[in-house]
Amino acid sequence: MGNTLLTERDGALVVLTLNRPEKLNALNAELLGELDVSLAALAADPSIACAILTGSGDKAFAAGADIAAMLDMSTEQARHFSELGHRICSRIERAPFPVVGAVNGFALGGGCELALACDFLYASNKAKLGQPEVNLGIIPGFGGTQRLARRVGIARARELCYTGDTIGADEALRIGLVNAVVPHAELLGKVKDVAAKIAKKGPLAIAQCKRALFSGEGVPLDTANALETQAFAMLFGTADRREGMAAFVEKRAAAFEGR
Ligand code: COA
Repeated sequence: MGNTLLTERDGALVVLTLNRPEKLNALNAELLGELDVSLAALAADPSIACAILTGSGDKAFAAGADIAAMLDMSTEQARHFSELGHRICSRIERAPFPVVGAVNGFALGGGCELALACDFLYASNKAKLGQPEVNLGIIPGFGGTQRLARRVGIARARELCYTGDTIGADEALRIGLVNAVVPHAELLGKVKDVAAKIAKKGPLAIAQCKRALFSGEGVPLDTANALETQAFAMLFGTADRREGMAAFVEKRAAAFEGR
């Protein structure tokens, strides 16, 4: 493995940093392979409470799939590349802990799609987001046509995907693509604060909450509510649930153990 992905543990938090700053963290096969392997390993690690995904350097989260690497791709290679991107995005969505995106600059094309797979995003005031693939004669291939529509509504997704326009952080906030805009230098600190807040909660509850929100999207409300009921009831069989409620009654902080 190379060093195109940096993984930094900080207690129950892990910061994943896309690391090809000289190429604005453009996503090549090596970086995506590292991300794929790393996310698979983290999903199996019960000591992780929250992950942060960000980009190395001062300019980019990720400026897209690596265009130079795509230049000579065959149809079949492109299919595999798209499937790899989809698998990674799916790993982010299915991880048993939240993945918060810290959009520290350009999040274009595949970079925007990786961001869209995160649970939610905070952006630097310098961030620029968009799906400019049509400028290259292609379309988003890591779920952008689908997740962007779900995040910001289909009409705005159509406009962004058809025009290839890049939008700034304030516009991204206005349309609900990012949750907050933070002064550039403060971004990672703010995201670590919210991640640390999440990490103090019961991890089983957070995992079930993430799952209910994810699984319920796009299914009929009755079905989605039934999933919620199942998860709600299941949590009553956990030690963490008893501890959380006992701590409230005893007016003390809960000590969750993830069981
Ligand atoms: N794929 C491959 N290389 C990329 C890249 C990408 N998606 N985005 C940036 N780079 C490389 C540049 O080729 C350049 O490399 P070089 O120094 O070896 O020439 C380096 O990263 C810096 O980029 P540069 O274009 O010089 O920076 P800039 O500040 O002038 O422009 C962008 C920034 C983001 C506007 C511009 O890089 C860009 O348009 N990138 C492509 C965005 C895109 O279409 N993404 C979707 C891909 S599907």
